[in-house]
Amino acid sequence: MFGEGSTTAEVMFIGEAPGQTEDQTGRPFVGPAGQLLDRIIQGAMGLQRSDVYIANINKCRPPGNRDPEPDEVAACLPFLLQQVRILRPKAIVALGRIAAHNLLATQTPMRALRGRDLQFDGIPVVVTWHPAFLLRDPSHKRETWDDIKRVNRLLGRPEIPGPTP
Ligand code: URA
Repeated sequence: MFGEGSTTAEVMFIGEAPGQTEDQTGRPFVGPAGQLLDRIIQGAMGLQRSDVYIANINKCRPPGNRDPEPDEVAACLPFLLQQVRILRPKAIVALGRIAAHNLLATQTPMRALRGRDLQFDGIPVVVTWHPAFLLRDPSHKRETWDDIKRVNRLLGRPEIPGPTP
C-alpha cells in the first residue's frame, strides 16, 4: 500500500502502516482512523483529502497490527524518502510514535517531540498524535488542533478558528 494524494501537495501526512481496511482496499487511512484524519484535514486546515498526500512508514501490514520491526522499516524507508523527494512538500505531519520515531531516527517520547521544530530531509516535520489514538482518547484532540495550527503557519495558510476536530 504505497500512498495516495495530490502530486502537488504542500503537506504530506505519514502514518504507521496499513491496517486491515487499507490492506484490503490498497488505500491509506480509509478505516475509522482515516475518517478522523479526513475530518482533521477538512476542519482544521480547510483542505480536502485530495489536496494532500498520505503515506505510511511501512508499505505492508504487519501481521496482527503489531508495531513494524526495524528490518521492515529499513526496507520501506527508501521508498518513503523517494516519495518525499519527488513531492517536496512544505511540511510533513508525522502521525503518532512509529512515524515520528522512524522519520526522525529518535526514541524521544511523543510529548517531547510535539511542538518542536524538526526536519526530515530538510523539510519541516510536525509531530502529532495518531488519529487511532485520538479515537481511543479524545482528550488529546485539542493538542492535535494546536499541532495542525503550526502546520497551517508553515504552509502560510489562514488560521482556522473553531472547535476541536
Ligand atoms: N493507520 C496508519 O498508520 N496508517 C493507515 O494507513 C491506516 C491506519
